[in-house]
Amino acid sequence: MIVPTIFATLVCLATWTKSVAATLSITADHYSFGGVNFPQLQFFTPQHRDDTIREIVKSGARVIRLFIRPDENHPDVERTLGEFDKSLLDQLDDTLAAIHHLSKGQIKVIIVPHDAHALRGSNGVPCDAYCKKLDGAFLDFYSSDEFRSLYKTRLEVFFKHYPSKNFDGRSWNELSEIILGVDLQNQPFSGIWPIPSGESWLCDIANHLKFTVGLDNANIAVISGGICGAQKVGGIQNFPDSAFDCKAIDVIGIHGYFSKEHDATAGTPWANLFIPGNTLTARAKDKEGKGKLLLVEEWEYVHNDDFGLFYKKEAIFDQGNALNWRGIPWLYSHISTLNEGKTARVHPLRPEYTAWTALKGVLKRSFTARSNFNWSKYLPPPVTIVAPTADEAAEQHLRSILIGAGAEWKLRRRNLSQLTTVPLNPYILEQSDCTFGCEGHLCDAADGCAPDLICKNSVCQRNEESQPGQIGDRCNSKAVCQSHLRCVKGECQACEARRTRQPEEKRKRTIAHEVPLEAPERMRKAVQPNDPNGSCYTDALPALFVLQEQSIASASPMLPVCLPPAHHPNPCHSAIHCSADQYCFWGSCVTCTASDSCLGAPCRSNNKCKTGYCNDHGRCDYAGQKKKPFGPGGARGQRNTRIAGVPKGHERGPAKVRDEAMRINIPEEKVAQTGMPVATG
Ligand SMILES: *[C@@H]1O[C@H](CO)[C@@H](O)[C@H](O)[C@H]1NC(C)=O
Ligand SMILES: *[C@@H]1O[C@H](CO)[C@@H](O)[C@H](O)[C@H]1NC(C)=O
Ligand SMILES: *[C@@H]1O[C@H](CO)[C@@H](O)[C@H](O)[C@H]1NC(C)=O
Repeated sequence: MIVPTIFATLVCLATWTKSVAATLSITADHYSFGGVNFPQLQFFTPQHRDDTIREIVKSGARVIRLFIRPDENHPDVERTLGEFDKSLLDQLDDTLAAIHHLSKGQIKVIIVPHDAHALRGSNGVPCDAYCKKLDGAFLDFYSSDEFRSLYKTRLEVFFKHYPSKNFDGRSWNELSEIILGVDLQNQPFSGIWPIPSGESWLCDIANHLKFTVGLDNANIAVISGGICGAQKVGGIQNFPDSAFDCKAIDVIGIHGYFSKEHDATAGTPWANLFIPGNTLTARAKDKEGKGKLLLVEEWEYVHNDDFGLFYKKEAIFDQGNALNWRGIPWLYSHISTLNEGKTARVHPLRPEYTAWTALKGVLKRSFTARSNFNWSKYLPPPVTIVAPTADEAAEQHLRSILIGAGAEWKLRRRNLSQLTTVPLNPYILEQSDCTFGCEGHLCDAADGCAPDLICKNSVCQRNEESQPGQIGDRCNSKAVCQSHLRCVKGECQACEARRTRQPEEKRKRTIAHEVPLEAPERMRKAVQPNDPNGSCYTDALPALFVLQEQSIASASPMLPVCLPPAHHPNPCHSAIHCSADQYCFWGSCVTCTASDSCLGAPCRSNNKCKTGYCNDHGRCDYAGQKKKPFGPGGARGQRNTRIAGVPKGHERGPAKVRDEAMRINIPEEKVAQTGMPVATG
């Protein structure tokens, strides 16, 4: 059987989806960005350091995160507590200068002034002077006044007292042209959740950095640094109330480590975490001046033995792609010149390792990605450095003759992409069970998913049992089928995705006694549906003949091709059946307009929200969300007398923040598992 109706339409995946109002794609005029963690960059020889920086500049990265911490071959800057090695700060300062000059001011850095792993000698970071004094009781670092004051001195020495070697003796707290932000620490309380003691350290140190050290004067951001280590799906490890409620924290740094799974790509958790308007993003996007910026400060390739190393590129592309689509800036963790293997490391200078090509692919796209958040206070808009046009060159030549002016390269403002379709991942292996529209893949419309899946919140997912209009469900004029399905004889009919056009076969005349040999060869060269250069068979007559031939050859009858996504809306009983930017109106998912109180809109009561539910933070949310326990101990605070430095609600009761020194010996971290912190941490 062939397609029953013949549409004379121009069809391919791209044109179908472009014609539809893109759902959940970001249209705000803010830019996002991408970048990398590079823990040991300052330790390289100047030549190797600069070659590496040049390669990173070419990729379109805008931020490099640098660490001040020891490694096997280099001591910490603070060799003994209170004593600092100026030559190591000079070395980092040289790196700042190299990045600034080689990127022509386009790349900024985030400085990590200390790594919580150095308090325990974990994650490959040697035990430093704090660690030796703590002698295993590493949580005392956060709760003891003595340690707080030592750490505050460290921060003052780095950012206030050290005179920059390369930036005219200015102190680092003034260098906003090169420093985007400073972490409180890398992964405070790393791996410990909920926080057992010393939580007020977070806001205490943030205030110290912002006001005493003076980062505020130069618009250098204070970044939370990945509180408690790895962010879990559905958890709040990196953004407890103590971070959201602390005015001195400008940016919430999120660290998450996700691997490819059978029902999800490595990027799916990121797409789910940052649905525009959900509890996290809506809360961050509070009133101007009160909100927080969200930055995925660490994400990485996490090896999963079920798949193997061939999937490294795919997993890297999926994660960067998901974050670009959601408009959340990100930094890959991490760049290294050690062997890559099964680790997260990506080597930028060795062409025989190929993960860098995938990372470059998403970095390049991040350069023009849009965001719902305004980062301009901390990072200037992206520009490209372009050679002058012929006319401009002629004019410059004339001017150089007349007034002796030199030729100039120009900085051009980059237009942000109008991203209405999800870029396909070109690194999905041809041998994969599924290369397009699989469970967990990003999608922008119903035809971006396999017909038995539903595209909801930009992710192809299995239908919940309650989701109306699935294949096989009863249907009639009132109970319609999902947008890509037809109602045939009272039942939502299965359909098949539009097939990918294959290269024209050379029709060789086969001589009767010759054994046909091409078949397996041809199979291997088949164009896969994830090929960005591929296109689909249209409904035009010649295409239909080809398809009919194919289906006869494969002896599998063709199902009708699914309906184009704009055919009719998805059916629903409540907003939870629709995407985040829709509500349920008389049984159909309807796209929200700016005046509707949809997901993320401010609200005071449930009945105002078209998505059904007004959450604790005064924003419309999905109904049926599980209540998340905020703060340590998971309890919300009662009305209490405020204690300076202690976040509201944490003064007493189970959520009380304890500040007395507690000698807690926490065992060293074990070998990292899937979804757990690994590598740079
Ligand atoms: C972003 O914020 C800056 C101030 O930090 C403001 O000047 C600018 O207009 C904002 N940009 C947009 C597009 O709203
Ligand atoms: C940017 O957009 C403007 C106006 O839409 C257009 O004229 C210009 O050619 C675009 N520039 C680039 C580099 O695409
Ligand atoms: C797609 O086509 C372009 C231009 O013809 C080519 O440079 C690129 O390598 C192709 N991409 C793939 C994945 O085949």
